Amino acid sequence: TGALLAWTDLTGWERVSETIYMLHTGQGAATLGLVLGLMALGVPAMGVTGVVVWLAGRRGRPRIRGNQPAGRAQTILLVGSEGGSTWGFAATLHAALTQAGQRVHTAPMSAFAPERYAAANRIIVLAATYGDGAAPASAKGFLDRLAAADHAPDAPLAVLGFGDRSFPAYCAFAKAVAAAAEAKGWRQLMAIDTIDRQSPQDFARWGRALGDAMGVDLELSHEPVRPATETLTLVSRRDYGAEVQAPTAILRFALPRVSLWQRFVGAGFARFDAGDLIGIMPEGSPVPRLYSLASARRDGFIEIVVKKHPGGLASGQLTALEPGDTVTAFLRRNPGFRTGRGRAPLILIGAGTGIGPLAGFVRGNAGQRPVHLFFGMRHPASDFFYGEELRAWQKEGRLTRLVTAVSRGTRPHYVQDVLRGDAAQVAQLIRDGARVMVCGGRDMAAGVADALAEILAPTGLTPAALKTEGRYVEDVY
Ligand SMILES: Cc1cc2nc3c(=O)[nH]c(=O)nc-3n(C[C@H](O)[C@H](O)[C@H](O)COP(=O)(O)OP(=O)(O)OC[C@H]3O[C@@H](n4cnc5c(N)ncnc54)[C@H](O)[C@@H]3O)c2cc1C
Ligand SMILES: Cc1cc2nc3c(=O)[nH]c(=O)nc-3n(C[C@H](O)[C@H](O)[C@H](O)COP(=O)(O)O)c2cc1C
Repeated sequence: TGALLAWTDLTGWERVSETIYMLHTGQGAATLGLVLGLMALGVPAMGVTGVVVWLAGRRGRPRIRGNQPAGRAQTILLVGSEGGSTWGFAATLHAALTQAGQRVHTAPMSAFAPERYAAANRIIVLAATYGDGAAPASAKGFLDRLAAADHAPDAPLAVLGFGDRSFPAYCAFAKAVAAAAEAKGWRQLMAIDTIDRQSPQDFARWGRALGDAMGVDLELSHEPVRPATETLTLVSRRDYGAEVQAPTAILRFALPRVSLWQRFVGAGFARFDAGDLIGIMPEGSPVPRLYSLASARRDGFIEIVVKKHPGGLASGQLTALEPGDTVTAFLRRNPGFRTGRGRAPLILIGAGTGIGPLAGFVRGNAGQRPVHLFFGMRHPASDFFYGEELRAWQKEGRLTRLVTAVSRGTRPHYVQDVLRGDAAQVAQLIRDGARVMVCGGRDMAAGVADALAEILAPTGLTPAALKTEGRYVEDVY
């Protein structure tokens, strides 16, 4: 009849058992079961990605043998490194000082904790420089901590900068550290010194001076580990600039094969973006030359724009390549020169080969973020690199506006002149949160910085303030 004759409630244990059954089978609670399943998967996923992040952070970082606790060490070695090579120098110095009878503590500059250095007689900072004098990854926060400290540490300081004289701001971060230390009244063990392009000779010379200052014999023999290189094969080239005495080629190379491990940890050419750099090892010189990438991994090729320098070794060899020819190269990440996420407008400014990474950013702008490109060339008939693509990208919505400056002709203009001509709109874009990215020669970059200073004056903003906010970045050479 459908009448309820009897009802017995589940016991506590039966209820638990029913719930467990429901969660396992998903019967009656499929969504909840799915959510719980995904959450459970999150645990091993976090573990694996955590290991990958940790491995990426330690890439190129050697093991420091016999690292003493900070509180017991007589010498504190602090390392500011992005690519890892400075850690190699630190390991050599650590070993030599330990052999000389010292208790040494080596740590990243970001772990600077003067209150812990109770037994320290000296503090040595080894610091690389990136971009416009920015702190490398393992030195983040060092200057803030120093500024926040009540007083400078008692142990005197020696700063050794690692840099590359082909960059305009040579060892600028190490110099900033030395200046901040002086301002804080930190006693000097030795005046700041620098190491150009990881020169073992420079390092040995500095080591002897350090030994003299400490009253010990110090022989520093360090052979930097060369980056792992790949062979790249040219697939195509496009030539420009011969008529304006600036022969330049857009060179496209095939992606090299990457191992499963490289893919897993994102090493080498497994992951790169436009604006990263490739180091080319020219035949006949052990010194690599850097070139800015005009493509990202997802484009499926490696592209650079190379201008032939009169008598230049690497640029001469590169611009002589024919399809099928090969070069030896490695990847150098350039995290300071990225478009960043979000939809804030981009103001891209470049001249000559500086167009390379900027063209790469436009090509990759599938999301149609507003992009304004200011490009300086000598003559549209000879060195308008990416001319056709830029017009096509504009039609596809990847490029909002293209403004060109022509330096040879009846009315010569440089890229800074066209910026000034567009002052009102440039200022408005920057007020709206635009990010400015400049790429190319250092004279052009200096001219652009002056023009932007003028354009921004009425708004109360300055290029320096934008740089501090990370809204004005440069790839200048
Ligand atoms: C971050 C960055 C990005 C760059 N991007 C580009 C780009 O996209 N396109 C482009 O065309 N160029 C670019 N360059 C410039 C490029 O790296 C080369 O400097 C340029 O091509 C000239 O190199 P070369 O070998 O032809 O000339 P060379 O005159 O043979 O060498 C150039 C420089 O290398 C150094 N050098 C040469 N031999 C030695 C040695 N034995 N020991 C120590 N140093 C030595 C010297 O500083 C010399 O001035 C970039 C440079 C930097 C720093
Ligand atoms: C993207 C990039 C930017 C750099 N910028 C500068 C710079 O502005 N000034 C400088 O002196 N050296 C610069 N360098 C050179 C490095 O500071 C130098 O190679 C250093 O030895 C790297 O040390 P690390 O491997 O420990 O990070 C730059 C190198 C790269 C790859």
